[in-house]
Amino acid sequence: MAIDVLLGLQWGDEGKGKIVDVLTPHYRAIARFQGGPNAGHSLEFNGTKHVLHTIPSGIFHEGTINIVGNGVVIDPVVFLKETNALLAKSVDVFSRLLLSKKAHLILPSHRLLDMASEAAKGQAKIGSTLKGIGPTYMDKTGRNGLRVGDINRADFMDRYRFLVKKHEEMLGHYGFEYNLKEMEEDFFLGIENLRKFKHIDSEHYIDNLRKAGEKILAEGAQGSLLDIDFGSYPYVTSSNTISAGACTGLGVAPSSIGEVYGIFKAYCTRVGSGPFPTELDNETGEEIRRIGREFGATTGRPRRCGWIDLPALRYSIMLNGVTQLIMTKSDVLSGFKTIQVCTAYQTEDGLSKNLPFDIHPEFVTPVYTEMEGWNEDLTGLKEDSQLPESLKRYIEFLEQELEVPITVVSVGPDRDQTILRERFKVG
Ligand code: GDP
Ligand code: IMO
Ligand code: MG
Repeated sequence: MAIDVLLGLQWGDEGKGKIVDVLTPHYRAIARFQGGPNAGHSLEFNGTKHVLHTIPSGIFHEGTINIVGNGVVIDPVVFLKETNALLAKSVDVFSRLLLSKKAHLILPSHRLLDMASEAAKGQAKIGSTLKGIGPTYMDKTGRNGLRVGDINRADFMDRYRFLVKKHEEMLGHYGFEYNLKEMEEDFFLGIENLRKFKHIDSEHYIDNLRKAGEKILAEGAQGSLLDIDFGSYPYVTSSNTISAGACTGLGVAPSSIGEVYGIFKAYCTRVGSGPFPTELDNETGEEIRRIGREFGATTGRPRRCGWIDLPALRYSIMLNGVTQLIMTKSDVLSGFKTIQVCTAYQTEDGLSKNLPFDIHPEFVTPVYTEMEGWNEDLTGLKEDSQLPESLKRYIEFLEQELEVPITVVSVGPDRDQTILRERFKVG
């Protein structure tokens, strides 16, 4: 049985959490493959909103196995909060969630280093979520990191102290003031909580499920334009957010990948620094932010808003091998008389339908096609046939331009506000 992948095609916050929750009944297991508590995945049902950071978005379904893969970085402090929030909602998280022994740990000193590094960058800061993501992945690739499997080693404390000593030297170099002791208390409570979970060799576990004919969905975090290799570097995150990341982040062979669901908003948002060619730094952008409630699920920061960007989406579709597209938040655009679609960029080499090396404003000018908007409230719609004609035309236009079918249209934040179209299929 193939492993399907669901991931974001823009700069994150496309609605991955909501859609994974909707698709979970089709799968035996949901496995997160990268990122960490920089992610904020929201899902809603029965009038309640839930936000997850590290824990896969299949956790609310009884009988579903949720796996945190080796590619994820876990902050025991955030993870303890997530655990307690779920327990308070009577979700038996201990039986539903398995952790890879190879997932790396975010230490309090990684968070301090993230803060120090951003402060030192000044105006050029990445706009990191300050969750310690960059420094933790740096220690992973630098071969210094601590992993979930290490917490049961007799010398865990020695290893911890050794790494923290190195971090303290680095913090000294930054001249950054801190109080690590207080942070460590929470960290060690978090470590105790991690011990309560089952730690697995997730690559073997997933392979066995697959061989037994079970369906697995790999859940991505962030978005393709934040990918460490292919995103708008250096304004990116520190992991591979593309489908290749599902292979390395779960130990799955490329030949085992089935459907690749690429999710995008009917418009575009970005939080943090970095270029955003179709950004609307004006009233229209504010209107989208207000109606779409575009505020970060992790940091609460206002998200920058703009029109849909097809060169960027084409690039993401290519990198990921997207087989089905999922469009969210079409309801947010209801009431806009016209909608602009960026179909190409004007560059110094002429018109380009692809993403050039640098997408800062001095290198690209978006070229727009204007489309008629729709006025209808979409949030109660249940079927494709009920969609307004101008939205149908918008969907058809995007499908033509992107050459991949849009098989799911989301019309609101709730689980039930989701239209599975005729060509939707599970791998
Ligand atoms: P993720 O990081 O990709 O999981 O996305 P976030 O949860 O950070 O942000 C998406 C936001 O949009 C959340 O508040 C969702 O509840 C909400 N959302 C998802 N799909 C839709 C939709 O179709 N319409 C509206 N109005 N909101 C949506
Ligand atoms: P989800 O999974 C949106 C952004 C940050 C910053 C950059 C680097 O909810 O879609 P980091 O903390 O990773 O070092 O920050 O990446 N970023 C996200 N933006 N959604 C996310 O996750 C993000 N995770 C990181 O804002 O610009
Ligand atoms: Mg999010």
